[in-house]
Amino acid sequence: MIHDTSVIFLIGANILLSIFGAILTHHLIKEMSYLFIKANLSGKDLSKKGKPRIPEAIGVIASAVYLIVMFLFIPVPFISQYLSNSRIFSHIPPVNTSSTDSFNNAISYELVNYLAAMLSICCMIFLGFADDVLDLRWRHKLLLPTIASLPLLMVYILSADSTWVTVPRFDFICDMLKSQFGPITFLPIQGRDGLPFDLWRLCPRGQPINLRIFFYIYILLLAVFCTNAINILAGINGIEVGQSVIISGCILTYSILQMPQISLDIPDSLTLFRFSVICPFLGVSLALLWHNWYPARVFVGDTYCNFAGMVLAVIGILGHFSKSLLLFFIPQILNFIFSIPQLFGWIPCPRHRLPKWNETTDRLGMSYTGPFRPSSLPFMGRISFRFLKLFRLVDVKKQLGEDRKMVDMSNLTLINLALKIFGPQHERNVTVLMLVGQILLSLAGFGVKFYLAKLLYTS
Ligand code: UD1
Ligand code: MG
Repeated sequence: MIHDTSVIFLIGANILLSIFGAILTHHLIKEMSYLFIKANLSGKDLSKKGKPRIPEAIGVIASAVYLIVMFLFIPVPFISQYLSNSRIFSHIPPVNTSSTDSFNNAISYELVNYLAAMLSICCMIFLGFADDVLDLRWRHKLLLPTIASLPLLMVYILSADSTWVTVPRFDFICDMLKSQFGPITFLPIQGRDGLPFDLWRLCPRGQPINLRIFFYIYILLLAVFCTNAINILAGINGIEVGQSVIISGCILTYSILQMPQISLDIPDSLTLFRFSVICPFLGVSLALLWHNWYPARVFVGDTYCNFAGMVLAVIGILGHFSKSLLLFFIPQILNFIFSIPQLFGWIPCPRHRLPKWNETTDRLGMSYTGPFRPSSLPFMGRISFRFLKLFRLVDVKKQLGEDRKMVDMSNLTLINLALKIFGPQHERNVTVLMLVGQILLSLAGFGVKFYLAKLLYTS
């Protein structure tokens, strides 16, 4: 719906507002941090000498500035389109009176996208702040993002309602294997032709399938995942904002790569939507990272983790990018899968799983679950424990307790796994290591998106 000539103007306005957002966030954090300490919104930096108290939930400043920037930006495309329709901007061609209705519908469609996005983001900021103040339970952290993302789901259903996905094609691999090993027909099942059913027929061949209700469930789960994934890959200075900055940088790059395709039709204005939602987010996050980088002067809090997760989920859902988005979340997905035994209570999960600081060496080492008896774990706990031990994904201290039958196991986080592989490190180095990993895996995500996808999806 947006004309080529005004795209440059819109992008320019968005970039300027994002720079304004970054500067404002930086100054507000500097000037308002003491208010958080006064209000007792502070946390102990557990990996520093004397465990100093520093302001927590500073993400609320970054998210408030983000909302200000977005509220200033949102009218820009619509007012300029409205004015262009009334021929005030002479360089923009007039819209046919007969097509005025469809023009207005398209404007409403885009405006609703932005407003639903802001509504869901606002809800998550509110929830995150409540979490920082009240220390919510895990069930709230799962339920509330689901409800907060309902406006997104409604807009998605009403505007696009595409629940089709294309299965990647593996036929060339299957055909190669079939020519090597021959047909697999040991099942006593017959095909329509009366011949034994060949298992190779199940090979995905790039056909589209309609997931219907399951696609909507996926969308809700995506919002829950994004809002919690950043919060559980946390606990060292700079990591929460650092990973969000890298993911949003990837989305921004992706949107820029899609820019040449922007034209008059509606789907391409989604690229502009992605760009204009992510750019201010990157601005405020960079300013926050400046203050949260080692040695942190502020903590971002759950407010920021929830806010960041929802911004990224919104771009995925309303930017029609929900499957590719996950390619930039590979470390978070791995961390989540790795954490499952502790998140589901199969293996003991202490309040904090952040790495343990050694005061003498000023290095971080693995943190542990606390002693437990493997035989008293639930069935899934025993299976996970064996699996983790077998593949050496955890460090286990054995023969503890009076009867020497207790063990202590390193916590199931990607940070601990990195420390197991690379040994104890200085806190700043651990953050750098994790962020370099995030960049490498995001680059792999780009590789999958642009090269592997071409191979697996083109007919
Ligand atoms: C999540 C993690 C928890 C981790 C915590 C740290 C899960 C299930 N939960 O819990 O394991 O310990 O985040 O953020 O994985 N802190 C630091 N240095 C930092 C950042 C945080 O010492 O760089 C400490 C501070 O004491 C701060 C506290 O962590 O006050 C914040 O924890 P909070 O965000 O409330 O923890 P959760 O999100 O519940
Ligand atoms: Mg947290």
